[in-house]
Amino acid sequence: MTTHDMLAKLDAQVRHAELVRDIKAHDEKYYQDDAPEISDAEYDKLRKELEHIEAEFPELITKDSPTQSVGAAPSKGFKKVQHAVPMLSLSNVFSEEDVDDFLTRIRKFLGLSESDAVDIVAEPKIDGLSCSLRYENRKLVLAATRGDGAEGEDITANVMTIDEIPKTLPDDAPDILEVRGEIYMSRKDFKALNEAQEEAGKPVFANPRNAAAGSVRQLDSTVTANRPIRFFGYALGQVSESFADSHYKIREKLSAWGIPETTFQLCASKDDIMQHYQDILENRADLDYEIDGVVYKVNRLDYQERLGFVSRAPRWATAHKFPAEQAITKLNAIDIQVGRTGALTPVARLEPITVGGVVVSNATLHNEDEIERKDIHIGDTVVIQRAGDVIPQVVEALKDKRPKDAQKFEFPHTCPVCGSAAIREGDDVVRRCTGGLICDAQAVERLKHFVSRLAFDIEGLGSKIIELFWEKEILKTPADIFRLKDKNDDGEIEPPLQTWEGWGEKSVANLFDAIEERRTVDFNRFIYALGIRQVGEATAKRLAATYTNLPTLKSAMKDAQDHENSAFEDLLNIEDIGPAVAEDLIAFFAETHNEEVLSDLENLLAIKPYDAPQASDSPVSGKTVVFTGTLVTMTRAEAKARAESLGAKVAGSVSKKTDYVVAGADAGSKLKKAKDLEVEVLSEDDWNSLVNS
Ligand code: IVH
Repeated sequence: MTTHDMLAKLDAQVRHAELVRDIKAHDEKYYQDDAPEISDAEYDKLRKELEHIEAEFPELITKDSPTQSVGAAPSKGFKKVQHAVPMLSLSNVFSEEDVDDFLTRIRKFLGLSESDAVDIVAEPKIDGLSCSLRYENRKLVLAATRGDGAEGEDITANVMTIDEIPKTLPDDAPDILEVRGEIYMSRKDFKALNEAQEEAGKPVFANPRNAAAGSVRQLDSTVTANRPIRFFGYALGQVSESFADSHYKIREKLSAWGIPETTFQLCASKDDIMQHYQDILENRADLDYEIDGVVYKVNRLDYQERLGFVSRAPRWATAHKFPAEQAITKLNAIDIQVGRTGALTPVARLEPITVGGVVVSNATLHNEDEIERKDIHIGDTVVIQRAGDVIPQVVEALKDKRPKDAQKFEFPHTCPVCGSAAIREGDDVVRRCTGGLICDAQAVERLKHFVSRLAFDIEGLGSKIIELFWEKEILKTPADIFRLKDKNDDGEIEPPLQTWEGWGEKSVANLFDAIEERRTVDFNRFIYALGIRQVGEATAKRLAATYTNLPTLKSAMKDAQDHENSAFEDLLNIEDIGPAVAEDLIAFFAETHNEEVLSDLENLLAIKPYDAPQASDSPVSGKTVVFTGTLVTMTRAEAKARAESLGAKVAGSVSKKTDYVVAGADAGSKLKKAKDLEVEVLSEDDWNSLVNS
């Protein structure tokens, strides 16, 4: 160690002790006395600084460091609100080729030819946080964050302080109108705010987005009132009556009603779009707000409606992201993380560096082949890049800067957590731990997944707390979460949670409330929460729609173990479920330990049967449909998407469980099978009148 290094360490040691002392004092003020002396942002900054020091000098981490006890304790939070119409997210494109694919996909879905016009509106993608404004009888009554898209947080009090958002609308606005848009902070205001913060000895914000988010998330709206946050509208949620037939006209109307708006441009071709993208990209520095791309939206609303959405993003829109920002830093180490399904992922530990306004100290190296291919050694100087909210990546190692003592990385063949063999199956690029249930890492990751946002979404039960509860053997399986309160009340948790460092009556009560709130859960969320390999959000929804409730799903999966029967066939008939996914599902339900966990959960929870989206009043809701032959009024893709959006299940082959076979021209074997099994056969016209009735 050089003298310089020694002095640096000594400094760090002194500052570390100070931070530990201060953070603890603030924790007590906040949790026990409910009288914080500093803002959330200031507090976060102290914790960040502590984490930084500990990342650099791990030997300074002590048992009593706040980083080792609880992470963020449950936030006292905002009221939750259900969105009347889901708040969607956007898919991304990165190149001209991607833009071409986007347009081709739209034409194909709608059955249009090259020569048919598909007008696109291009508008800047503002880097802020999305917000929905609800007007009832032309009065602003509710403002909500996006949250998970279905449920957000009520931030009305704070949004009321944003001057440029109209609180009332003119008489020609509909009775119910939801305006979706972005809350942001202008560059000028951000700069001034940071200068004022600095002058007052308060912490500064990393970028305008963080400043806007921090301002909106204040529980005390008088703080928000003094922050210069603003709003741009760009889409609609629920509306009581339609008032336009194109996105362009919607934007014009919003503008006329006094909603602040960005520019928007009608583009008639891909060349037009690319030209406009270049313009915005080149001139972005002149804008007084930060943008991270250009959003393209199909102009015609009837097309938008027909295109609908996949999972949580519309087919009729996409975001063309600006090129990723890069930076050069040193790779200090490579750690292996073990995921929920046992996948071993190499993570680069970097010398912290700012990339596009965000401090990056970790980046993904994907898998062992990537490390090999890019020839990355520990100690290398590396180029990293970050695009939007995607995990930062290591792009390459600068070979001419490689120090003599740089080390080649040996990818482990055993799990670094449980020591079981880690193997690669077939041509899988991923090496996986074979420890299964005995692997602590997998168990902990499964618990984290179980409480995550698209699963049970339990507020206040973050990763740090899950890890802590696991370590203290308070949580072993997901069911334990729902026994936590009883165990704590009955004295089975020693000492009781309320007396733990950093916790108090209030934060424990908040956590128990958050858990209680989720004791009733949607069946599709429940399936997703189980963390079955290859079963993501969309597949979970399809399974929920097919089997409706847990007992039915369990017995169907048992029956499907015998591959020759109809239960297996039914499973394969579900859209997007192929033999590999089917095997993973069957294996999950056959595992004894999983059976126990499931029956435990069944006793502790109320699992709501799947409620298909907007389905209840459609005559095809809940019906199983097979499309066959050539359709003329719509493409197969559109027919399927429409049927699913009305709550029907679309299957690939005909069985006794099929309700309708929709037969177009030249229908063959499926039509014959339908007749043999006496399944009702509809013409395309019959089907259209049924779904439009
Ligand atoms: S439209 C129905 N338009 O980007 C589609 N989103 O990455 C809903 N965003 O969640 C979004 N500028 O918060 C749309 N001009 C714009 C936007 C925009 C920024 C945000 C929005 C969205 C996110 C998706």
